[in-house]
Amino acid sequence: MRLLFLSLFLFTLMLPAHAAERIELPEHTWTFSGPLGKFDQNQLQRGFQVYREVCATCHSLSLIAFRNLGDLGYNEDEIKAIAASYEIKDGPNDMGEMFTRPGRPSDHFPDPFPNRKAAEAANNGAYPPDLSLMTKARHGGADYVKALLMGYTEAPAGFDLADGQYYNRFMPGHRIAMAAPLLDGAVDYKDGSPKTLDQYTSDVSAFLTWAAEPYMIQRKETGLRVMLYIGLMTLIFYLNYRLVKRRVKGA
Ligand code: HEC
Repeated sequence: MRLLFLSLFLFTLMLPAHAAERIELPEHTWTFSGPLGKFDQNQLQRGFQVYREVCATCHSLSLIAFRNLGDLGYNEDEIKAIAASYEIKDGPNDMGEMFTRPGRPSDHFPDPFPNRKAAEAANNGAYPPDLSLMTKARHGGADYVKALLMGYTEAPAGFDLADGQYYNRFMPGHRIAMAAPLLDGAVDYKDGSPKTLDQYTSDVSAFLTWAAEPYMIQRKETGLRVMLYIGLMTLIFYLNYRLVKRRVKGA
């Protein structure tokens, strides 16, 4: 018993320490938040443009195939053209050699580096993680990715950074080996949306949320339908119960 109290006591001591470690994230209102939320296809297309023109230089998106881009509102011809703009490594051919060919809709996004070592060598020894499941892998999801991309500031006085490290308010430990990848005006949007860091980071975070959970909206809709069904059945059962009770009493 005493041991139980002691462990409970120690546990309560741990709680605030853990809470203090977690960095508060600014909360953003996403179109896909809440039970009735939906992805905004225009935003996903802009986010894809940011990924393609900026992040894809270093980060793979290996779980996504070009044909999945249909969810973003691209038609078949557009998807074929997007796929064909990528070089895909294939093979071996009859001579036993690997070769490259233009991408097809069924191909997945290619890795920017031939292997992990090459990726690390190009990034000061740090590995740029695959972004397919990033919003699910980090606490805060899209809020975290947006905050991280906007979180570059001067390091406080006395804060040591090694070569190739940058200060970021939202990275755990505040040291990150990725230089700020986006600046105002870095990506040329064609739909009149603001070409600002704020807009880019929202769009690419929305895109990565879709990439990590393409069926989020269907899941929410199914959930809502199930809740409505359960509500309706409860009402029917209740009315039935009242009816039976009244009849039994009346008898
Ligand atoms: C020049 C290469 C480069 C580019 C371009 C780049 N990144 Fe990174 N990124 C990295 C590296 C390297 C890391 C690993 C950092 C570390 O572990 O310190 C990283 C890490 C990350 C992480 C994980 C942080 C964590 O919590 O561990 C996210 C999220 C991320 N990048 C998103 C992006 C997005 C979104 C873009 C495009 C807007 C982008 N990156 C562009 C190199 C890059």
